[in-house]
Amino acid sequence: MAQINTIAVIGAGTMGRGIAHAAALGGYRTILEDLLPNALRKAESEIRGNLDKAVELGKVSAADANAAFARLEYAGSVDEAARGADLVIEAVPEEMESKIEIFTLLDKICRPGTILASNTSSLSVTEIASVTYRARKCVGMHFFNPVHKMKLLEVVRALETDEDTVETAAEVGRRMGKEVVVIKESPGFITSRINAMIGNEAFYMLQEGIASASDIDKALKLGLNHPMGPFELVDLVGLDTRLSILEYLHKSLGEKYRPAPLLVQYVKAGRLGRKAGRGVYEYPEQPTAHERPASANASD
Ligand SMILES: NC(=O)c1ccc[n+]([C@@H]2O[C@H](COP(=O)([O-])OP(=O)(O)OC[C@H]3O[C@@H](n4cnc5c(N)ncnc54)[C@H](O)[C@@H]3O)[C@@H](O)[C@H]2O)c1
Repeated sequence: MAQINTIAVIGAGTMGRGIAHAAALGGYRTILEDLLPNALRKAESEIRGNLDKAVELGKVSAADANAAFARLEYAGSVDEAARGADLVIEAVPEEMESKIEIFTLLDKICRPGTILASNTSSLSVTEIASVTYRARKCVGMHFFNPVHKMKLLEVVRALETDEDTVETAAEVGRRMGKEVVVIKESPGFITSRINAMIGNEAFYMLQEGIASASDIDKALKLGLNHPMGPFELVDLVGLDTRLSILEYLHKSLGEKYRPAPLLVQYVKAGRLGRKAGRGVYEYPEQPTAHERPASANASD
């Protein structure tokens, strides 16, 4: 298994900051990078807040939280972040072109042994890896939102990923406090595929006027024991992220994943979820899409 000391995380949005938090708490020197300086500032204060909350709740000792915070560094360019890393975890928006751009760059910058991981929710890691000269060192590491709380990590074995890379990614996940499942690449993996199907069906039901959003949420929580309703969940995940996943599943797995027209409309209206201050529900305490930098709204 490869020795991992330093982890670079590319993209400091919803997922990147959580991955950096868990990596630092797992004992890794962690360098977080984003092209928006504001995203890095927000990430730093959010990680501090989440660590403090974990101390308050008695989940982490103050000494461990402070040590984790001290292991975090922030970088303004991919080059600066990834040059010395043993593992790079990419968490930029869910668009193949963005992933390919980052992996092409990482392959040039990083040492030959550095493992390149993508946190993609649904895209083909095999396709992302194909732009590098190290496909066997490329792997999917699919974390869940919010990363510092969610226990699961799906490690995705792409066509050419070697065993050592899979084992190393799984071990890093365990040190980050996660339970790991290793899966063979397939569109949407396990969780995104099932979740996208349920969430899409909920939008079709809302569109057909079968019930209100809050009643659909209530039914799944109380009747099926889901911890969150599908609309509460999509507001957390981001409606644009969900739409990108569905579009990809529709293209790769067929008609049953066609995105509900109402979901498409919500995304067009800028109702992207909690991060935009409104999604299926309204979040008056959150910034509106207007107050956020335009590129932060581009996609997830
Ligand atoms: N949101 C979720 O619930 C969730 C869950 C699991 C996996 N994912 C996956 O994680 C990835 C990131 O999603 P997110 O929700 O954190 O998105 P996000 O929009 O919250 O964050 C993306 C960040 O990447 C930055 N970025 C964009 N292009 C960049 C570049 N070229 N270099 C550096 N930074 C760049 C943006 O400024 C932004 O801060 C996606 O692939 C998504 O599918 C998301």
